[in-house]
Amino acid sequence: MLQNHHSFWERQKRVPLFEALTRHAMRDPHPFHVPGHKMGRSFDRGGREWYGPILPLDLTELSGLDDLHQPEGAIREAQALAAEAYGAEETRFLVGGSTAGNIALILTACKPGEKIIVQRNCHKSVYNGILLARAKPVFVVPAVDPVTGAAVGLRREDVERTLMEHPDAKAVFITNPTYYGMGIDLKKLVSIVHRFGVPLLVDEAHGSHYGFHPDLPASAMQSGADAAVQSTHKMSTAMTMSSMLHVQGNRLNRDRLFRILAMIQSSSPSYPLMASLDLARRHMVVAGRKEMDQVLPCLQQFRERVSTLSWVTLPAVTEESVYATLDPFKLMLCFRTRAITGFQLQGELEAQGIFPELAELGHVLLAASTGTLAEDVELVWNTLHARSPLYDDGAKNASAAGMLASHFTREQAMPMYEAADADAQSVPLSEAIGAVAAEMVIPYPPGIPLLVPGERIDQQAISLLQKLKESGTRFHGVKDPQLNEIQIVLGRNRW
Ligand SMILES: Cc1ncc(COP(=O)(O)O)c(C=O)c1O
Repeated sequence: MLQNHHSFWERQKRVPLFEALTRHAMRDPHPFHVPGHKMGRSFDRGGREWYGPILPLDLTELSGLDDLHQPEGAIREAQALAAEAYGAEETRFLVGGSTAGNIALILTACKPGEKIIVQRNCHKSVYNGILLARAKPVFVVPAVDPVTGAAVGLRREDVERTLMEHPDAKAVFITNPTYYGMGIDLKKLVSIVHRFGVPLLVDEAHGSHYGFHPDLPASAMQSGADAAVQSTHKMSTAMTMSSMLHVQGNRLNRDRLFRILAMIQSSSPSYPLMASLDLARRHMVVAGRKEMDQVLPCLQQFRERVSTLSWVTLPAVTEESVYATLDPFKLMLCFRTRAITGFQLQGELEAQGIFPELAELGHVLLAASTGTLAEDVELVWNTLHARSPLYDDGAKNASAAGMLASHFTREQAMPMYEAADADAQSVPLSEAIGAVAAEMVIPYPPGIPLLVPGERIDQQAISLLQKLKESGTRFHGVKDPQLNEIQIVLGRNRW
């Protein structure tokens, strides 16, 4: 056992892909291959100072550097080490973010016309995967946290009932944790889903650090999920777009999954990105816990300090919570007063040089990580504290946060892919009540569609979209980004 333990550490200290790249660069080679900057020799002068050190590693599928789509050497080894570290049977590196992993999982699980049970507050990549697969989503509406107003995870009984009502569903797809760090008891959900013989696929984009510290929830792999997609670039230390797909068990056809991944990822995946996954994995295993030991007490102290303010609050797991876990690295500042919006506070924080992850009407989300310094947290506290007299007007508004919450129950008037492909027309937003949406309307951030194609547009959706528009929210997925007009399916309106 000790021997095994020892060899785990010895193995995990290695970074085979990064080592292969640096070894190659140090040979001082004569590059007659792409990319054309030839390891940085020809590059814009203004950019060279910043990009310079990394360009010699921006290589391609050369001898000794393996091939992501047919891994037999350094990439295979790096992925095997990642699988070991993250508790998966197999791991694949993603260079197109979790977006690529989510799409690949859905294309693997569903053939055209097949059903998939999906958490309604999933990221847009999940809906795009469903559209590409021409699958039929069966949406399950998430629980809503009454304290923050945020849509959180699925209730087990809702998933169980949906599985009973749709025995032909091919998989269950959930997001855990949410962008805001809230999560469910995944182990319990896994055992329910597996009773029905289908895989549980988890978008764990925000949980790449889970399982690496006793104060953190267990990861999807540790909880027994069949597949998990992690944005290693979000809450861990890989470069942007670098993500991982972990799989275990035999409920998912892995050959098909890997074939599909090769179709949807670039044939020229970036080596600096892939090697950053190798480094992020080693860093998490070797230094993650120690760095978290330093950051977590600062975040805990911050929580305690914020609890003394009357105008702002942070979510916490309690007996009454509709979620079971909370990521201590996510600080969701929710207002208890209407004296301020998230966009305003974002501006005030930015004036101090503090850049939040996102702002919505009723809250601001700060994402900390192992890279967060005590002085960063102190500056946020000082800013909040200094602004307190302005906002502490006593006007309590416990449900001001999460304007997006609880707005996911809508009639699915026609299959999503049919509506997306149908002849459409633009109508003013205010005149769209009763029509069927032909496009996805995605307030961004956080990137969770408020309307998906095929859904009947109701008064609630219109009011909410108007409010978001007025507050300056941006919209993705739509033809008119100002959202003065919305695309509806021709001839399917009920008005
Ligand atoms: C819940 C969730 N899933 C998936 C994604 C997509 O991840 P990526 O940006 O790595 O493609 C995001 C991105 O914000 C997300 O929030």
